[in-house]
This record gives sequence, structure tokens and C-alpha cells, in this order.
Amino acid sequence: LRLAVLISGRGSNLKAILDAIGAGRLAAQVVLVLSNRPGAAGLDLAAAAGLSAATVDHRQYPDRHAFEQALVTALDAAQAELLVLAGFMRVLTADFVHHYRGRLINIHPSLLPAFAGLDTHARALAAGATEHGASVHFVTAAVDGGPLIAQIRVPVQAGDTPHTLAARVLPAEHRLYPLVIGWYAAGRLALGGDTVRLDGLPL
Ligand code: GRF
Repeated sequence: LRLAVLISGRGSNLKAILDAIGAGRLAAQVVLVLSNRPGAAGLDLAAAAGLSAATVDHRQYPDRHAFEQALVTALDAAQAELLVLAGFMRVLTADFVHHYRGRLINIHPSLLPAFAGLDTHARALAAGATEHGASVHFVTAAVDGGPLIAQIRVPVQAGDTPHTLAARVLPAEHRLYPLVIGWYAAGRLALGGDTVRLDGLPL
């Protein structure tokens, strides 16, 4: 399976995907790492791994449409089959997500539909949540609102700060994302209409 991983920053989920591939736990190859931020740390990871990487800096384009056209050009040139958003911090338009419908997934650090958007760990604590976690979903035009594929839960502990809670969620993300990508690679995961189809999985 030919993966494109879209990042804006640190790239720890990218690293988890690469580690899973390297360990033989994920039958896929990263054919392109695409960042909208020049200097994203994840680009260094990509370079160290000898991967093809590109920066499409949204600030260099007059509007969202032109930015997304540049993304599409790079993604199609790489013949990416599945687009994996991993800390990609730009909202994608309905045109873009329709173009890649069923081939575009995201990981979000909350138990969606709770806490879509930013600052999820602080908001979960402020709301008195006893559990938190991460969700992988197909991307649609509704930000953090596409059909859910899988979630991983962690407990909120007494004395948690946004920082300690994030540090508990992140390793869970790193387990979940390669697993879900592996289901897709195995042909077990698809988006049918607005419904996620998971075939032959022990759920
Ligand atoms: C992760 O928490 C992910 O869920 C969110 O952005 C963060 C990206 O982290 N969408 P990294 O760049 O993968 O380290």
C-alpha cells in the first residue's frame, strides 16, 4: 500500500508508522511525506529514513484552492493510495476531501465526537472527563467529524495536567494508527457511503 503522510510538525505518528513498517507489522510503504510547514521536525525524520518528502507551504499560495491543487499534484505524482493525516494542521476543503473520499484518514487526540478541534487534553480535563484517548476516522468536510474507524482509551488520573494526559494519549495513538492503516492495507477497511466497513476483524 502506497502511503502519503501529511504533517505539520513533530511527526511522532509518522515515526510510529515507519517503525511499524520497519518491524514488519505494517505492509505498506511511505511514498511521500508532505508538510505544509517548512522546517517541520517530521521532515527531518523523513530525510533520515531516506523518504521522499516535500513542503507545500500554504503561505505561498493565494488561496486554499491553489494550495490544495499543489497538494494534489504532489500526491498524484507519488501515486499515493492512502492519505494519512498525522498532525496536519490545515483544514481541507470539501473539494479536496471528496477527491480522496475513502482514501483519507486522520487521527485526533480525543474520543470523538467529544472534543473535536484544538486543545483537546485541556478541554477534557476542564470537562471533568474520566477517560480520554484518540480516534481514527475517515476525513469528510466536517472537521474531525468523519465516520469513526477506531478509538483507543486511556484513563484520566488524579492530578493530570494537559501535559501528563497528552503524554498518556500519544503512545496510544502510536499503537492505534499503524493498526488501522494495516487494516486498510489488508483490504479489510473501507468507507461505504457514510458507513465504515470493517471485514473479518475480531472486534
Ligand atoms: C497528534 O496528537 C495527533 O493526534 C494530532 O496532532 C498530533 C500530532 O503529533 N492530530 P505528531 O506530529 O504525530 O507527533
